[in-house]
Amino acid sequence: METLFVDITDVDQLWSRRLRDVPADPAWDVSDEREPRMHRIHAYPAKFPAFIATRAFAYARGHGLNPRRVADVFCGCGTVAHEAQRAGLAFWGCDINPVATLIARTKSARLDPQTLLSYLGSVLRRAERGGERPDLSPAAEERLRRWFQPGQFDALGSLLAAIREETPTDSMYRDAYECMFSAILKACSQWRQRSIKPALHPTKIPSPVLPTFAQHMGRLARALSEEGRPAHRQRPVEIHRANALTVARPERLVSMIISSPPYVTSYEYADLHQLSSLWLGYADDYRDLRAGSIGSAQHSLNLKRSVNQLNRIGNQVVFSLYDQDRRAASAVANYYIDMQAIARRCRELLAPQGIAMFVIGNTKYAGVDIDNASHLAESLLDAGFGRVRAVRRTISNKIATPFRDNSGRFSRTRTGHHVYAHEYVLMAHL
Ligand SMILES: C[S@@+](CC[C@H](N)C(=O)[O-])C[C@H]1O[C@@H](n2cnc3c(N)ncnc32)[C@H](O)[C@@H]1O
Repeated sequence: METLFVDITDVDQLWSRRLRDVPADPAWDVSDEREPRMHRIHAYPAKFPAFIATRAFAYARGHGLNPRRVADVFCGCGTVAHEAQRAGLAFWGCDINPVATLIARTKSARLDPQTLLSYLGSVLRRAERGGERPDLSPAAEERLRRWFQPGQFDALGSLLAAIREETPTDSMYRDAYECMFSAILKACSQWRQRSIKPALHPTKIPSPVLPTFAQHMGRLARALSEEGRPAHRQRPVEIHRANALTVARPERLVSMIISSPPYVTSYEYADLHQLSSLWLGYADDYRDLRAGSIGSAQHSLNLKRSVNQLNRIGNQVVFSLYDQDRRAASAVANYYIDMQAIARRCRELLAPQGIAMFVIGNTKYAGVDIDNASHLAESLLDAGFGRVRAVRRTISNKIATPFRDNSGRFSRTRTGHHVYAHEYVLMAHL
């Protein structure tokens, strides 16, 4: 696996060669092992395969680093958190999306499957009686009603109210029930399944609320039973709902960072998780949750004032795009400035000899290569990492064909926008 990495130690080298030519290494493509069930308890856009985390631990050990404390600054649904825990490593992570941290907390909680299921009967009986409702603001209710048939809306309201009555307040069991509630929302609604943009599917037959919820609780219990007793002494797991750019540093430095950054203008996480955020009361207007989200197309920027903050590759990409699409150029500039700050933050979090690993993809927009991987490599070198090692991996996920149709759904035709068939694994060494 090792030999295929290309080493980059200075920005000039990157400028002349870029990462496009680095070799594809099949060792990072797929794993022979089945992914633990826990990673499938809740869908999450751009979740990365769990084996990447275990390969990263092995890479670190191969380089004389024992990764005792691992961090993920974009922890998403907690893939690295869970794998770190399985490997007996301490974990610190953050994500700005409250739905992400709810899933990540649930996946990392030390839940007892029997205790978990002990609340299920009373939750279902209470929900079945109906008539109860969680507190929803009028704005949240109005928005939610667009996505649900009236009967489904009432059934979900009763279920959430029952969860809040029957499970202990502020406990990991309450989190787990709310997480499974969140997991069934799209199936129980008129949301077009598998769409990466919110889209109504008016003729869809939604799944029945209580049987689907019971099924998901069963799945979570099975995932927990599969984990069995931890082979190692349990190490602390910290998950913060916070902006990676401003979150307080962990008390102790970490030896390894493993992360996959958000993409630019691809996924609006706040929009994609609006059903969960509105039901669970994270916001009355889901658009408020776009604030601080890196890669969102919704932030405004004074391009003229900010352009001098961009590094060389950032500048080149943004200016190539500027003539084609100013709005997109501005979104990419915002994203690059944020990612440069992320590189500096990662440097601050790492102990001496530490390694930061990123999985990152490129795209093409209006005919311009948006070379996120080379930009991040430059940002890491600028932030003080001594060398960045790069390899390419092929995305093997069946639905990740490189094209999207106009609604943003993956498509097999060549007419859509070009997205990622490959992505890069970057290993930044201090
Ligand atoms: C590609 S996803 C990470 C997926 C993750 N590796 C997993 O397996 O679930 C990128 C994540 O970055 C998060 N994000 C975006 N802006 C952020 C910010 N300013 N601070 C922290 N997280 C942010 C998004 O909410 C999203 O969960």
